[in-house]
Amino acid sequence: MANVFSRTTTQVMDWVNARAPGMMPGYRKHMTEYYAPKNFNVWYYFGSLALVVLVNQIVTGIFLTMHFKPSAAEAFSSVEYIMRDVEWGWLIRYMHSTGASLFFICIYLHMFRGLMYGSYQKPRELVWVIGMVLYLVLMAEAFMGYVLPWGQMSFWGAKVIISLFGAIPVIGNGLTEWIMGDYLPGDATLNRFFALHVIALPLVILLLVVLHIGALHEVGSNNPDGVDIKKGPKGNRWSQTAPADGIPFHPYYTTGKDLFGVAFFLIIAAFIIFFEPTFGGWFLEHDNFTEANRLVTPEHIKPVWYFTPYYAMLRVIPSFFAIKLWGVIVMFAAIAVLFLVPWLDKSPVKSYRYRGWFSWLMLMMLAVCFLWLGKIGAGPGTDPSEVIIGRLLTFLYFAFFITMPIWTKLDKTKPVPERVTMHD
Ligand code: HEM
Repeated sequence: MANVFSRTTTQVMDWVNARAPGMMPGYRKHMTEYYAPKNFNVWYYFGSLALVVLVNQIVTGIFLTMHFKPSAAEAFSSVEYIMRDVEWGWLIRYMHSTGASLFFICIYLHMFRGLMYGSYQKPRELVWVIGMVLYLVLMAEAFMGYVLPWGQMSFWGAKVIISLFGAIPVIGNGLTEWIMGDYLPGDATLNRFFALHVIALPLVILLLVVLHIGALHEVGSNNPDGVDIKKGPKGNRWSQTAPADGIPFHPYYTTGKDLFGVAFFLIIAAFIIFFEPTFGGWFLEHDNFTEANRLVTPEHIKPVWYFTPYYAMLRVIPSFFAIKLWGVIVMFAAIAVLFLVPWLDKSPVKSYRYRGWFSWLMLMMLAVCFLWLGKIGAGPGTDPSEVIIGRLLTFLYFAFFITMPIWTKLDKTKPVPERVTMHD
């Protein structure tokens, strides 16, 4: 049976090869002859997991679109209809809503891995920058998706975020109106967000993912030691010219590592989807189970957890000289500064494994600031002491980046091994 299968596979591949000879070299370059460092650890799961969630979002999104009505009059009840009357509709919807949060969990861990191992340093600056553009588009995609069910938080969240553009001098009010297509979020807003959410942005995301991985495969993967395996000895059991510390991505990493990670991840995802789909209000807010009402403002308007660190910055920054724009500037600067990391880091060493204790301290500080700000942004924002703490955390967040060229240069590094630490 196995023989028949492998014979048929070979015949099909030969048939395709004879007609499209350019395809096989591409497959080899990116799969069977892509030599990835053999010392990947658990932090290297999240790129492939992000891909799995992306596929989940697209597939479940297609089924949701079959029943969803993108109009202010019908959107909320069409989601209720999906949840109650469409066969398996509740599962599809919860897979999609949980998927959004899991996407950001994967992305934040994926970005943190990049920071820890200096994966953004030369020659992978482009991989990082494309990753950052992906992060921006992903945020836009998630924001617009959250508006679609037309619950209270969809409406008021959209109003607060779109109104931020109103703080821009001169063009602000016109711009806000232009984005909404109305004076408040309404039918026009919902229609355009639907178009962007289901087709325009997913296409951009797919294109960016191809560019992201394409850029990575041009230079090769970094690894937890930050050692460039291409500069090390050559020759392994698959090829005389390949790096000695590299193993073919397929089948070794696909079946030996990523498949295991996907199985583990799906079990956790299933637990959330079946037992705690709102995740205590973190993944789906309670207020969003009430239909949008422009006459009733929810007690606390706040975005979903993955935006709350930036939202906290927006809230704690005061308006100097009667200019409201500062909070908005700081919030966008907090994202923009991440683009610059490859040029702010002056360390001769990539991985934090071989950097000094001060670098670790700074990285931990950044992580604590981000998480703590996230907690503040998710709260009601009424505690005055939280405003002070929030300002301090915002200051430390920016201090990490602004002083990065100094401490990365001054901090003592440890000798980096010639080969990855797992080479025996
Ligand atoms: C839709 C979002 C994204 C997807 C699907 C994605 C996917 C991937 C995949 C499959 C890899 C190769 C496997 C791995 O190294 O884990 C990778 C590598 C990488 N990604 Fe992403 N990524 C995304 C977003 C981002 C973001 C937001 C950043 C950072 C700003 C980023 C930075 C990197 C870097 C630096 C590498 C190379 C890591 C290394 O070689 O050590 N990615 N990405």
